[in-house]
Amino acid sequence: MELNRRQWLKTTALAGGFTLFNGLTGIQPLTAEERIKFNPRPFSTPVRLSSNENPYGPSERVRTAIKNAFDEGCRYPYSYSDQLAELLAQKHGVDPESIIITGGSTEGLKIAGITFTANGGEIIAAKPTFLAMMQYAEMWGAKINWVPVDEHMGYDLQEIEKRISSDTKMVFLCNPNNPTSTLLPAEQLTDFCASVSKRTVVFSDEAYYDYIEDPNYPSMIDLVKKGENVVVSKTFSKVYGMAGMRIGYLIAPPHLAQQIRRNIVAMSNVYAIEGAKEALLDDEFYRFSLKKNKEAKAIIYNTLDHLELPYIKSHTNFVFFKSGKNINELGSQMLDKGVSIGRAFPPFYDWCRISTGTIEETQFFAQNLIGLY
Ligand SMILES: Cc1ncc(COP(=O)(O)O)c(C=O)c1O
Repeated sequence: MELNRRQWLKTTALAGGFTLFNGLTGIQPLTAEERIKFNPRPFSTPVRLSSNENPYGPSERVRTAIKNAFDEGCRYPYSYSDQLAELLAQKHGVDPESIIITGGSTEGLKIAGITFTANGGEIIAAKPTFLAMMQYAEMWGAKINWVPVDEHMGYDLQEIEKRISSDTKMVFLCNPNNPTSTLLPAEQLTDFCASVSKRTVVFSDEAYYDYIEDPNYPSMIDLVKKGENVVVSKTFSKVYGMAGMRIGYLIAPPHLAQQIRRNIVAMSNVYAIEGAKEALLDDEFYRFSLKKNKEAKAIIYNTLDHLELPYIKSHTNFVFFKSGKNINELGSQMLDKGVSIGRAFPPFYDWCRISTGTIEETQFFAQNLIGLY
């Protein structure tokens, strides 16, 4: 019997198991030492590829730092967070006053949103994007001016600029964007932020910045340093593998940092802060995370290429692809097979966002996706 390529792939994948993908990408299994140092998630179903978590970490060094801080749990975290702010200020070349430590960057997004819309007004944001700031600000009375992404799923900066009015209190950029994984062209981004920050506050969510492969790609911290009306958010949840610990930070010029800081609610905690301090030094884990993310993306790309499903080139730890199936239907089919995938991102109901997992988890996703076509 002659098999077409799709049938072949299906049978080979199911019969040959994980080797098909290893053959395609040349990925090596983890050594015993790597397992200890980098702490991969144990395989169990449902495999959770729905929240863009790092499947590795906290690293051995971070875990040890947290254990060593165990007895400090009776202390309030303020002096500890001041120390972390010092380290982050050095890393980014800003004044410690410009760093605001938050309970995950989500707290930073929420308090920045309400700081600037407390007296009414609107936030301009792309659709779709990461919603934490906008949902929270809306609850407190802000209006959201949604600008659809363009035909390549990128930001429509021209349209955003056109919509700025006296009502606009903030422009929210998520770059790379979640869920589309797109990255703004560097020059466009800098020119846009430099000019728009003269008229309103620009917020640059850089949760996925570490995954950008261009070493010269700019961070909007450059504009913070010049005292422009720009706020940047960063997180320890992604490349550092600490999503459960809730620690992130904002970087803002002192005149904005002062205002935002007043609205802090959660802040972070001693263990997360001590872990974060160590994470900044653990270069080996950082590089490992990036390498494994690339490998997992290669498996996802290969799978989508074989299935002839279109996808966006990802600058993050997830891939947004056109499944051609309603996302809710695909979601329950995949869950039946033991894989939890991303939710719906209106208006892209026949697209799917899949986070990178460990190699084993990603292969499991790939096999099961193939099984559906
Ligand atoms: C773009 C973006 N910003 C911020 C966050 C929130 O991260 P954190 O864990 O720091 O609150 C996420 C989480 O997925 C995200 O995708």
